[in-house]
Amino acid sequence: MEVVVLDSADAVAEYGAQRIIGLVKQNSAAVLGLATGRTPVALYKCLIRAYQQGDISFQDVITFNLDEYVGIGDDEPLSFSAFMRRELFNAIDINVENTHIPKCPEGENPFQVGEEYERSIELAGGIDLQLLGIGTNGHIGFNEPTSSLASRTRVKTLAGSTIHDNSLNTNKAGVSAELAVTMGIGTILDTRRVLLLATGDGKARAISAAVEGPVSSMCPASALQLHPKVTVVVDQAAASQLQLVDYYQHVHQQQAAVQTRFGQRAVDQPLY
Ligand code: F6R
Repeated sequence: MEVVVLDSADAVAEYGAQRIIGLVKQNSAAVLGLATGRTPVALYKCLIRAYQQGDISFQDVITFNLDEYVGIGDDEPLSFSAFMRRELFNAIDINVENTHIPKCPEGENPFQVGEEYERSIELAGGIDLQLLGIGTNGHIGFNEPTSSLASRTRVKTLAGSTIHDNSLNTNKAGVSAELAVTMGIGTILDTRRVLLLATGDGKARAISAAVEGPVSSMCPASALQLHPKVTVVVDQAAASQLQLVDYYQHVHQQQAAVQTRFGQRAVDQPLY
């Protein structure tokens, strides 16, 4: 696992955005896995800026979001569909038909959504890069503690702490749904590269358990230790409970030096 510790939340967003911009420049039809929540908002702003400056185009990019609440309509402001339009899609040149969210509005059978979503990911050739945030309880997507590490896209019951955190995000207590359709941990582990961002001291415990703790369904993000290409980008606050920060910084410097000497191949054959 590559761990990049940066000075500020802005630096985390910029670093994450550059990884995505680099990928899209390399492959204009890249398949991106996207996340909602507070953390990726600043990164999305960087992507919008890069698009406005003519640096990249999203015309051929395909996206799959991690999750969506069950029973919520596309146009409801609290839906993740509305979030994505507001925070990213409406401001870039992405083709709406290339964007996917595991929607399950009222009246649809949530148990079919998961299988269909898995099929669409497969049809798109799999996800090149999955962007993740992390819950204070260590969840990725809405895979709450004790989720199967082999799980696929399915309906999940949200943990009480997640419902609480989500209501803080929206400033409206009690408005979030209690069920969601989420990519599974197995789905996330099948992606070709993972980029997990975390900022703020509220995430310090979860980051420490994910990166340095045992692989356990009690911290779903710890399953990422089984993935060969994961980059965790954190600010100082989120890194504050990590024991090996000096080592991660040393690796990061080595990686940069090797990349300067050997170019892109060094990124594909990382030193972490
Ligand atoms: C969002 C998602 C969640 C969030 C996590 C962190 O699509 O799947 O796992 O990434 O809850 O949320 P924030 O960024 O709001 O702290």
